[in-house]
Amino acid sequence: MPRKKQKKLDEARTFKNIFDYKDENVESRIIEYLGNDNSVTIELCCGQADYSISLAAEYSGRNFIGIDRKPARLWNASINAASLQLKNVSFLIAYAEKLDSVFKKIKAEEIWITFPDPYPRRSSMKKRLVHPRFLDIYKKFLVDKGKINLKTDDDTLFNYTLKVIENEKLNLIKATDNLYKSNHLSFEENIKTKYEKQHIAVGKPIKLVSFSFS
Ligand SMILES: C[S@@+](CC[C@H](N)C(=O)[O-])C[C@H]1O[C@@H](n2cnc3c(N)ncnc32)[C@H](O)[C@@H]1O
Repeated sequence: MPRKKQKKLDEARTFKNIFDYKDENVESRIIEYLGNDNSVTIELCCGQADYSISLAAEYSGRNFIGIDRKPARLWNASINAASLQLKNVSFLIAYAEKLDSVFKKIKAEEIWITFPDPYPRRSSMKKRLVHPRFLDIYKKFLVDKGKINLKTDDDTLFNYTLKVIENEKLNLIKATDNLYKSNHLSFEENIKTKYEKQHIAVGKPIKLVSFSFS
């Protein structure tokens, strides 16, 4: 492994705003770090956490948790949040698969899933982060009527998500296969992540699906 990456991996775990799901007290530590009862929004597959950081800067009265399985990506997120002196955002090294064992007290008002790996092959369908097995996990820590938002450039994942919503009889709030065609977007919808900017640069339309369990 390149020395620079190894340094990031080692350092990430020493940062005050980065937590690790392997720590048995991880949820209490996050609660203590955030230090209030304000609502929580979660960003899954956050990478450098553009959503969590932009939202935390805009909404000082809300809390945000960016989650990614790769500590080196959260290193970047942590540095960016610290440079903006944001105290209402924290980062968690975790697999989405493990989140129901992390969040027992924390309830999220909203989840953003930003440009997850699309797993286009049918044989990998179970790995898609909107597969019903993941939805069962999210349901355990999402408030009633809490919103889940998926942003993707991938047609297969977009259409699959709509199918899951239909099959599982979920509540579709919004779906668009070309988000930026519209001039009437909310602050949230308009945030552009690192990967999103790359897709836009090569002319790919960005898709958004928002839904809730009830
Ligand atoms: C394509 S990147 C998108 C990063 C960022 N959201 C963006 O839009 O710039 C996908 C990210 O998902 C993370 N990831 C993939 N599967 C995951 C899982 N099961 N649990 C947590 N993170 C995951 C990867 O580590 C990677 O950082």
